[in-house]
Amino acid sequence: MKRRNFIKISGLSAGTVLTGGAVAGFLASCSGCKKDYRMGLMTEPVPVTEGDFSRLLSYPAQASANHTLTAQATVANIKGTNIPVLGYQPNSLLGPSFRINRGNAMNVLLQNNLSEHTNIHWHGLKIPALMDGHPDQLAGAGGTFRYQFTVNQRAGLSWYHPHPHEMTGKQVFQGLAGMFIINDTEEAALSLPSGQYELPLVIQDKRISSNGITYNPSMEEVMAGYMGESIIVNGIYSSYTEVATRYYRLRILNGSNARVYNLALSNNADMIIIGNDGGLLKNPVAVKEILVAPGERLDVLVNFSSSTIGTEIYLLSKEFGNGGNAQGKQGFKIMKFKVTVSSAITFTVPTNLSAITAIVASSAVRTRVFEISNAMEHHGVPMNNGMQMRHRINGKLFDSSRIDETVAANTNEIWVFDNSMGDEPHPMHLHGVFFQVLQRSGGRGNLIASENGWKDTVLVMPGETVKVLVPFENNTGKFVFHCHNLEHEDDGMMLQYQLS
Ligand code: C2O
Ligand code: CU
Ligand code: CU
Repeated sequence: MKRRNFIKISGLSAGTVLTGGAVAGFLASCSGCKKDYRMGLMTEPVPVTEGDFSRLLSYPAQASANHTLTAQATVANIKGTNIPVLGYQPNSLLGPSFRINRGNAMNVLLQNNLSEHTNIHWHGLKIPALMDGHPDQLAGAGGTFRYQFTVNQRAGLSWYHPHPHEMTGKQVFQGLAGMFIINDTEEAALSLPSGQYELPLVIQDKRISSNGITYNPSMEEVMAGYMGESIIVNGIYSSYTEVATRYYRLRILNGSNARVYNLALSNNADMIIIGNDGGLLKNPVAVKEILVAPGERLDVLVNFSSSTIGTEIYLLSKEFGNGGNAQGKQGFKIMKFKVTVSSAITFTVPTNLSAITAIVASSAVRTRVFEISNAMEHHGVPMNNGMQMRHRINGKLFDSSRIDETVAANTNEIWVFDNSMGDEPHPMHLHGVFFQVLQRSGGRGNLIASENGWKDTVLVMPGETVKVLVPFENNTGKFVFHCHNLEHEDDGMMLQYQLS
């Protein structure tokens, strides 16, 4: 049911704010909406407003293995004037980018200078449970938490962000996040564009006012996820960067709370996907557009060599389908590349990038199905009958004292995310592991170019069921898995598995 019908039937004006309980009560009495009423349908996206792409893009400072991150209230210049934000260093929205060689030992002190608790989750790092930033493992206001672990995994782009339950969305939205780049010898042997030709790009949307970054989701915005009108890259609104006529490597992170982007280049050039969440793909794949959901990463080669000096090319997000009512309805520009320097450097994209062995599905000892539709009805049977309308997995809300799934170490399992009855996109993320995506049915019906290789987050669109194969190794302990739409996560769409 569309928002307008919802309002008409309920007799409410468009400005009326309903609490979750009020909606549940209303729905219980609404026989007309039975069949097609599901959670996201009354929501509308926040329209993106573009600027003039005249601010020079910059890049977060680099950090190495020994570092102090000070979570703090500070200011940042996002749109031309300083506004209050949260940061891990003064005068900056994002934290530094760690650049770490495989095998290095990390020693990061989180100093919490916020007036509330926080912690750091190292998204994409396979590290011990007690270092992973589980919502139980917090630094109180004024306190500290020391993260010590060894990076022992293949090259790739991971990231870090707070994970305190019910506060993750706010803390990330107001500025706390950073990149974590791992290098290894396999990647180095490919001689991919590096240095000033490797561009880390954190794409986010923010809601910006002179008072700071506003975070006050309405009930509808908890449903759709909180989105902003201002698209920023590396903390800068409407930016450009100068490029030479050669190949570049774009290291892209969607660090948004909820917004999904359908990336494309305005000159319709190929984007050559060489990597994703878990590092390099086996082989490169050229695409014209590619979806990237919150939490997902892309490693992309772009060739500017046939562009003439003076050419301006935009990184876009194009409209897309299958995203429910709140996503993909608008196309917009994200940032601009200005071709300003000619370069004689030639580069040939390697045809083989990495050795990746597909795990055979028959090796799985167990299949677990997770219902993530959050539908009011499932095959005609009321599901959330009498329950408050909240985002759940298998009908359950997050409870850190409850283990939802017990998994045996050193076994492979198939996990199935069933959104077949749902109408909201859910990027599903597992801590502590990488997985291979086996199959998507319903909705888009197949896998996209970035879903080969190793993933830690997979987008499950409305109507879709996605099967992944997870090799659980011997990193035992309690880990969470959740929807990476941070409003859904904070609303309770997160469970725990115990690996033992
Ligand atoms: Cu990036 Cu549990 O999340
Ligand atoms: Cu994570
Ligand atoms: Cu979700």
